Amino acid sequence: MADKIKLLLLFGGQSAEHEVSVTSARSVVAAIDPARYEPTLVGISRSGRWRFLRDPSPVFDAGRVDDDAGELSVFLDYSGDGHLRSLDDPAFHRPLDVVFPLLHGPRGEDGTVQGLMELAGVAYVGAGVVGSAVAMDKELMRRAFAAEGITQTQWRVVDASRFRADREGCVKRFVDELSLPLFVKPCNLGSSVGVSKVTTAAALADAIDFALRFDYKAMVERSVEGAQEVECAVLGNEAPVASPLGEIIPGDEFYSYETKYIDDKSSLVIPARLDDDIAAEVRELAVASFRAVECFGLARVDFLVRADAPRVLVNEINTMPGFTPISMYPKLWLETGMSYGDLIDRLVDLALARHARGASLSTMR
Ligand SMILES: Nc1ncnc2c1ncn2[C@@H]1O[C@H](COP(=O)(O)OP(=O)(O)O)[C@@H](O)[C@H]1O
Ligand SMILES: [Mg+2]
Repeated sequence: MADKIKLLLLFGGQSAEHEVSVTSARSVVAAIDPARYEPTLVGISRSGRWRFLRDPSPVFDAGRVDDDAGELSVFLDYSGDGHLRSLDDPAFHRPLDVVFPLLHGPRGEDGTVQGLMELAGVAYVGAGVVGSAVAMDKELMRRAFAAEGITQTQWRVVDASRFRADREGCVKRFVDELSLPLFVKPCNLGSSVGVSKVTTAAALADAIDFALRFDYKAMVERSVEGAQEVECAVLGNEAPVASPLGEIIPGDEFYSYETKYIDDKSSLVIPARLDDDIAAEVRELAVASFRAVECFGLARVDFLVRADAPRVLVNEINTMPGFTPISMYPKLWLETGMSYGDLIDRLVDLALARHARGASLSTMR
């Protein structure tokens, strides 16, 4: 039999989705075929320590990675041979074929870890440095969508120094140009952290202050009232394909951090309740969005669908969507008959194919 694929599962991380990531890793470990893979597990603590876990069960049971979890602190040696090494034990080393960075949000899904994997010369699942970074920055992401003519709601961006210099002027301009109600979000985050909806001009300044607690710039955008929230999974490298569609019922004013992860009020409906022509448009725009920010492997593209034309508006793309078996991304592929385990195999194959293609390019100029 051919050698097993040495798969590094990297999970936990420094974002608000630390626990979600741990749950995803637990599910991936349970699903992969031991005859095909030789897994190595590294949990990243909230403070950024990479911990090698010979036995991940205590971490899986706790649902989080502590600074002293497992055996050793490790690092990905970027000096070229793609090994995992440790300063705690100079004899420790693990060769790797492919990394699955099951990390969400800043310092995981934003191109930083992807840059490290590039330097280490190791294959990895998902978007590269550029796609990850552009998709994590809502302003750059929306500019990339606009450049491809992908419909979206109107927005403006304000940075902290400009807002502090002229709070009233900014508020007046946003209300005049975009009109209430408005959504305010930090540009570089996720999980709805720092997001608010405002219905009055008086509340807008506070909402911008709140978003600017999490980032140096905030996006202010027109609310798409009465919209359906529709999500599409995209899979592939050069020829990405779109899944059937799912719908989120937020169970609250909007799909907030609480409704996503805490109070369980939100639910998923698959397939989304849409007419065929609208569903086809969403799927087409999902692939266009994937290409617009230069994604690879996987991404989930989120839309707001409303009654007025243009009916389909892209909201965002997530380059490492939630990946537990009950998350939208795997569930949408399950609709097509692709199991969770098959999906992981496919993602690993795509990572290896992309790496092989990159390795065949000349880097000498
Ligand atoms: N322009 C908008 N109109 C209506 N609802 C919105 C709008 N922008 C965001 N929302 C709501 O807020 C949620 C979080 O916003 P989103 O842009 O997806 O941020 P995050 O990257 O944190 O997930 C969305 O899932 C949706 O419920
Ligand atoms: Mg979102």
